[in-house]
Amino acid sequence: MHAQLNILKLAAAAAALSFAAGASAQNAPIKIGFMLPYSGTYASLGSMIEDGFKLFVAEQGGKLAGRELQYFKVDDESEPSKATDNVNKLIKRDQVDVLVGTVHSGVALSMAKVAKDTGTLLIIPNAGADAITGPMCAKNIFRSSFSNWQPAYAMGKVAGERRHKKAMTITWNYAAGTESAKGFKDGFEKGGGKVTQDLLLPFPQVEFQALLTQIAAQKPDAVYAFFAGAGAVKFVKDYVAAGLNKTIPLYGPGFLTDGTLEAQGAAAQGIVTTLHYADNLNTPRDNAFRLAFAKAYKTNADVYAVQGYDAAQMLSAGLKAAGGNIKAMDKIVAGISTMTVDSPRGKFKLSKAHNPVQDMYLRVAKGNLNEYKGIAVKALPDPGVGCKM
Ligand code: BEZ
Repeated sequence: MHAQLNILKLAAAAAALSFAAGASAQNAPIKIGFMLPYSGTYASLGSMIEDGFKLFVAEQGGKLAGRELQYFKVDDESEPSKATDNVNKLIKRDQVDVLVGTVHSGVALSMAKVAKDTGTLLIIPNAGADAITGPMCAKNIFRSSFSNWQPAYAMGKVAGERRHKKAMTITWNYAAGTESAKGFKDGFEKGGGKVTQDLLLPFPQVEFQALLTQIAAQKPDAVYAFFAGAGAVKFVKDYVAAGLNKTIPLYGPGFLTDGTLEAQGAAAQGIVTTLHYADNLNTPRDNAFRLAFAKAYKTNADVYAVQGYDAAQMLSAGLKAAGGNIKAMDKIVAGISTMTVDSPRGKFKLSKAHNPVQDMYLRVAKGNLNEYKGIAVKALPDPGVGCKM
């Protein structure tokens, strides 16, 4: 009789403990792991993403879906060889609930593999690696940014419409560069143009001289370049210093001039690019965002800040759909997958593969702004080839 009573007491105590543990897990802060470049050529992109993310959180009173947040950070250095170790620091050592990262496609491919294997929620606030919303797609992986193909295809289409016949591409030899060149070729050749040569150099090298000499010798009608961050600053300046801009127009996805215009100065003036953001969209939503960003960080927002801001919006919607329970992955996934993201770039929804379906804007660099000139391609989806979910 006594023994039975003791067992009952023990069971009740255990139930109370597990209830308390569940309740305290619901009260504990949600752990967010930022894996971003905080050093190297993409350092400024990483900090703009983090700032954008935190701006959205601040606008919600510092919590998402009523939950406190705790941040963990790893500098991924845009170094693919360290990516798996770095992402495991966040998942195993820090036990984060959500991964937010990264900028570099090669690093993001490793992050996506680990996220897929462990089922960790991953929101990618930049890296465009096509495969992540293609064959590697997964229900717990989302992108708030773009696929490498999207802005590149739009630029190729515009270059074709401008009646250029022969173009050369120049970029870093890694997924973002080669996929961007491929996207441009798709758009350009569909309009009757021909890409005559793809020039490559290793990431993040900036010794462009030999390749610029090849461009000068071949005299294409246009050049398409994918570079970003500090590398883009150097490339645009070198292109002008070589005198190439006088005879061969330079095009690119907007990364070539986004967040870089101040440093590029006169060299960037007039460069035409395509991207899912521009500096003077002049919508109430974007104006409010830009004002809040400038007040908080004393600098102008760029596309990377927008993508960070939208990553936080996506997490917020997922958490709300799950009643704040970060463990309720199916509800989080459903919440994000079906939401309309009220982005400063304009509202968008996600494709089945979890990539934004979005307008690609035509922009021209003027002063410190990438000025909106129109829509190059409306509501462009990524092809998402090979995604099975
Ligand atoms: C990328 O590696 O995917 C990337 C990096 C910078 C800007 C855009 C794309």
